[in-house]
Amino acid sequence: MSRSFDSAAAPCGAPLPQVALLGTGGTIAGVADTPLEQISYQAGVLSVECMLESLPGIDGVARIASRQCGNLPSEDMRPCHWAKLGRDCGAALNDASMCGVVLTHGTDTLEESAFYLHLTMSSLKPVVLTGAMRPATSLSADGPINIRDAVAVAASPGARGRGALIVMNGRILSARTAVKAGTLDVEAFCALESGLLGRVINGRPVFYHKGEDEPPLAGTYAAHAGQERLPRVDVLYACAGMPLDAVLFSMERSAGLVVAGMGNGSMPSDVRKALAGAVAAGRPVVRASRTGGGPVTDLDGYAPFIASGMLSAPKARVLLMLALAEAARQGAQSPQALTAGVRRAFECCHEA
Ligand code: SIN
Repeated sequence: MSRSFDSAAAPCGAPLPQVALLGTGGTIAGVADTPLEQISYQAGVLSVECMLESLPGIDGVARIASRQCGNLPSEDMRPCHWAKLGRDCGAALNDASMCGVVLTHGTDTLEESAFYLHLTMSSLKPVVLTGAMRPATSLSADGPINIRDAVAVAASPGARGRGALIVMNGRILSARTAVKAGTLDVEAFCALESGLLGRVINGRPVFYHKGEDEPPLAGTYAAHAGQERLPRVDVLYACAGMPLDAVLFSMERSAGLVVAGMGNGSMPSDVRKALAGAVAAGRPVVRASRTGGGPVTDLDGYAPFIASGMLSAPKARVLLMLALAEAARQGAQSPQALTAGVRRAFECCHEA
């Protein structure tokens, strides 16, 4: 089901901008048994049409063309769903009548879908992802206001040329740097090192910095938008005494690996030695951090590996999958050339 509002007049008499609103599921479309229940509920139930009904007046912010593109909890998102999101967003962005796209999405893997779209969408028009921490049936549900804010951002000229954005709880964040950093609070997303791009204040987007002509990494992998299968990349979570056999299992099956390392991306020495062998065999390894704060830098003793910079482990995985897909598209390379190419892909991840 889909609908579009007829052209409404802005105060100056100009037609309101048109925004595509694509529903994909999550808590924002979730339903609990009672309004007091905020934790036990079913995510991905309500349609985007139904969510719009709780937003009287949204047609004064922008004309909305809504479409249901799926309805699932985001823990079930897979690369094939990212590919579909890429195709659906691409179709909406190619429509000359649309000034931007808003995607409603579960928050648990929102940062991965957002970063995938950042890497694969080449349009200057904004793609804005939003979600909710409380189900739609909840007392003080945060979904409706998040949709209103996301639509206001997608309709704003200031959002152009910034790649994919995340709008949650009145904050505007770059998909490149934002992470989910809370389990329950409505203030669940942040970008610790680089901060906010701006805020939505009483429905008005306020950007703190000018957009860039070429935001880092935006559209770098446009050639892979809509590609259903991406190379397998496993994330290994480093911990004291982590079993080596689990590392070897992933090494045998993955085209590349990300280690959510300790501190500044460190790992036990037996794991480090085994993974150096993976790199030599043509499986690039990226070091991220399990700490959740601070960049991961190059480090003595870790020369074969690539530092993730500002990227969280899940984001580093998305970039590595696409970088490996691109390497495969270019044809067979030596392990050294492959790792060097992936290293270049991660270079700008050290900038805020
Ligand atoms: C989900 O990610 O689909 C469930 C959790 C949420 O949306 O907050």
